[in-house]
Amino acid sequence: MQGTIPGNPPVEFDDVDSNAVFLKDVKVEFDGFKALDITRFGVHFNELRVVIGPNGAGKTTLCDVISGKSRSKSGRIFFHRTETTHLADAAIARLGVGRKFQTPTVFDSLTVYENMELALPGRRAVFPNLFGKERSEQRDKIIAILRRVHLIDALNTQARYLSHGQRQWLEISMLIVAEPKLLLVDEPAAGLTDHETGMTADLLLELRGTHTIIVIEHDMDFVRRLGGKVTVLNEGKVLAEGSIDEVSADPQVIEAYLGR
Ligand SMILES: Nc1ncnc2c1ncn2[C@@H]1O[C@H](COP(=O)(O)OP(=O)(O)OP(=O)(O)O)[C@@H](O)[C@H]1O
Ligand SMILES: [Mg+2]
Repeated sequence: MQGTIPGNPPVEFDDVDSNAVFLKDVKVEFDGFKALDITRFGVHFNELRVVIGPNGAGKTTLCDVISGKSRSKSGRIFFHRTETTHLADAAIARLGVGRKFQTPTVFDSLTVYENMELALPGRRAVFPNLFGKERSEQRDKIIAILRRVHLIDALNTQARYLSHGQRQWLEISMLIVAEPKLLLVDEPAAGLTDHETGMTADLLLELRGTHTIIVIEHDMDFVRRLGGKVTVLNEGKVLAEGSIDEVSADPQVIEAYLGR
């Protein structure tokens, strides 16, 4: 489609139409410090995008503005062709934006299974009078995911007793069971062993093609394994975009990030 969607600043129909997530001139400041200053950022429908960059580059803040946790002081944000710039985080979540935080946010005192129930779409778990069929379907779904991430034997274990890797997987599983259209995954491999990191990459690759996924990660082996397009952030700005080989050969990227 030709033309622009009016507003301040105006955006092209094409950019909004062809991207699951589209940001234009987005700025986030903390006490005058510019944490994020994005001219243009778009992720296509069902694309798996990896965002890398040094500490403090604005990667988590990028997830925060997309999910509505932080506000942009200017510019515009679209999700699935709906403008979300001024929507509350709960409204953005209802549109289908799901999130895994940098630090796992599971409930320690609940079991693995109970944590999964809380993550069910629409939080249907809070209504006790579910029909038997629906309840057993949900149970099957939870069991299937837990089996996939090797947490099936920990079904009735309180989350406080899980290892760091198991907590990361529980949180990714909670994200999957919530069936979001977009998964924002912040540093899923942090603190994991090589074997666990490989399993996490495989898990994300299984979701590829049916979900839009934005993964933030530092571990370059992990990034390579995921494949796909990489966005490099530095000092809040998009420094480079392309394949992992393209961005790793970019002198600006080497100087800002990889060479350190
Ligand atoms: N709530 C906040 N208040 C003040 N400053 C903040 C806040 N959140 C982020 N910042 C600052 O904004 C900048 C970007 O932070 P952000 O957490 O987005 O970086 P990051 O790329 O995710 O870094 P890391 O790799 O360490 O997770 C940093 O300088 C950070 O200190
Ligand atoms: Mg971060």
